[in-house]
Amino acid sequence: MKTRPPSAPQSEAAWRRHKQSGRPLPPVEARPQATSGSDPAKSGEPPARRPAAAARLKLQLVPSILSADFNRLGAQIADAAAAGADRFQVDIMDGHFVPNISMGPMFVAAARRATRLPLEAHLMVSRPEQWIAPVAEAGADIIIVHAEATVHLHSLLAQIAALGKRPAVALNPASPLELIDEVLEQATMVLLMTVEPGFGGQAFIASVLDKIRRLRRRYRRDIEVDGGVEPETIGLARAAGANVFVAGSSVFGHPSGPASSPASSPASSPASGLAALRQALTRSSRSRGQ
Ligand code: DX5
Repeated sequence: MKTRPPSAPQSEAAWRRHKQSGRPLPPVEARPQATSGSDPAKSGEPPARRPAAAARLKLQLVPSILSADFNRLGAQIADAAAAGADRFQVDIMDGHFVPNISMGPMFVAAARRATRLPLEAHLMVSRPEQWIAPVAEAGADIIIVHAEATVHLHSLLAQIAALGKRPAVALNPASPLELIDEVLEQATMVLLMTVEPGFGGQAFIASVLDKIRRLRRRYRRDIEVDGGVEPETIGLARAAGANVFVAGSSVFGHPSGPASSPASSPASSPASGLAALRQALTRSSRSRGQ
C-alpha cells in the first residue's frame, strides 16, 4: 500500500480533499540535519525559536566553488567532498546586484553531476524571481535569496518551499536584522555575509559578529556566514553563534579563479584547506568547553 508523505493531512477526509485540490504538499518541516534529541515541539515556541534546537545544530563546512580551479571543477569538488565538505555553494552573480559576473544555473548542474552532497545556490542577482526555478531544476537543494534584492521576499521563499527546496535568506554586512524579522519562520537558514558580496579572497568584516550574536538569541536554525572565513576567523563566527561556514579561497586557494595561479599551487588541495578549518573549529569548541 502506497504510504502517504509525512506532511500529508492525517485524516482520511482531509487527505481525500487534498488529493482532489491538486495542490502540491508543503515541504516537510523537519530540517532533520539541524535538530535532533528532545522534541522541541513541546516547547510551544514557533519552530524557528525553539531553544533546544540551536544547541544541536550541526557544524557544517561549505566550500564555495567561486574559488575553485574551473579547468578541473569536477575533480576539485570530488576532492573537497572526499575531504569532508558537508555541502557546496554555487555563487550566482549577475553583474548588477554585485559588481561581478560569475556563474549561472549550468554551474549548478555541473556541480550536481560532480557530487551527491547538497548544493546551495546563492543568488546575488537583482531579479531573484527569474532564477529560482532554473537553479531548482539544475539541482540546487537550498536556494538563498538576498533580502535587499526583492520587495516580495515572503512569496519568493514560499515559491522555493513549494518547489520542495530549502528556502534561505541572506543579508549584506550593512543590512539590519529587522529586514528579515517577518520571514524568520519561513527561512530554514539565514546567511549573514561577512564580506560585501561579489568576490572571493576578501577580509572578514568583524562588525558582523555582533549581528550573528543578536540573531542567534532569537533564531534557532542554521546561521551561515560567508566571506573571509579562514582558520583565524571561523572560531570567532562559531563563538558568536554561526554553525554553517562558507569558505572559498581558504579551501581552494584560488582567490580569483583559474587564471591567477597554476594548478600546482600548494593551497589548491581542498583537503588541506578543509582540515585547517575543521581543526580551528574543534579548537574553538574546546576553548568554549563544548
Ligand atoms: C562572495 C561569495 C563567497 C566567496 C567566499 O560574494 O558569496 O561565497 O566565494 O570566498 P572567500 O572564502 O574567499 O572569502
